[in-house]
Amino acid sequence: MTIQDEIRSFLLPDCSIGCEILHFREIDSTNRLAKELAAQGAPSGTVLLADRQTAGRGRMGKSFHSPEGGLYLSVLLRPALPLSDLMAATACAAAAVHSALCECGVMTKIKWVNDLFLHDRKICGILCEGGFPPQGTQMDYLIVGIGLNLTPDANLPAELVPIVTDIATETGLHLSKSAVTAQILQKLDEYITHLPERSFLPEYTSHSYTLGKRVAVSRVLSGNVSRETIGTAVGFSQDAGLIVEFEDGVREVILSGTAVFADKQ
Ligand code: BTN
Repeated sequence: MTIQDEIRSFLLPDCSIGCEILHFREIDSTNRLAKELAAQGAPSGTVLLADRQTAGRGRMGKSFHSPEGGLYLSVLLRPALPLSDLMAATACAAAAVHSALCECGVMTKIKWVNDLFLHDRKICGILCEGGFPPQGTQMDYLIVGIGLNLTPDANLPAELVPIVTDIATETGLHLSKSAVTAQILQKLDEYITHLPERSFLPEYTSHSYTLGKRVAVSRVLSGNVSRETIGTAVGFSQDAGLIVEFEDGVREVILSGTAVFADKQ
């Protein structure tokens, strides 16, 4: 049985993701190819899966270390969503993957915007990329790229050792790649369908790794002057922005970047 057949055997018949599943032993980046296929008109629900990536992409222009033993997945969707929903879609995808992993017995926490943590270390990164048409206000496509560490990497770069871990090391579970993939596809289908109602937000909030922590963010003080200021993460806006309360009691919604924790973890 191919991995594609295995994944399909786990999917419920109403799942609209998985019409086409492409599997690669090695690729530069599944997100890169997914964007290319999207531009060529590939249908919503197309899935790209790789055993390893040679040029995995992370958020904010960073690379994503993608050795054998991980799960590298890109899902091409064409949801009827406004361009302004990209951040909410990103958080929604994180909630969906979190929920899928819970079903598999792995209880992660979600670090704003879209990293999954287990025992204070990252086990999963998610990169959502939207296709923006030259005219119009709706996304042409949404690529949800997911990198999940399933087993230990003997060659993990030294700088990643204190911040990265994997499911097998933390839980002793050796999850089947096809079963986890199917669970993720199923949840993504459900969560993205209900994105307009923001129904992912309660789960996103209750399993947050960020809420209640002190974070350093760039705060606009007056005019164009901004300064790095420490505040406490207290909630999420409807667009999945991080609500930070500063010492003067003022609250601001942070809509971009990442939360840098002010205290040592
Ligand atoms: C991050 O942690 O900054 C996001 C990492 C996203 C990695 C995944 S792996 C599958 C897909 N293909 C890529 O090149 N990136 C995403």
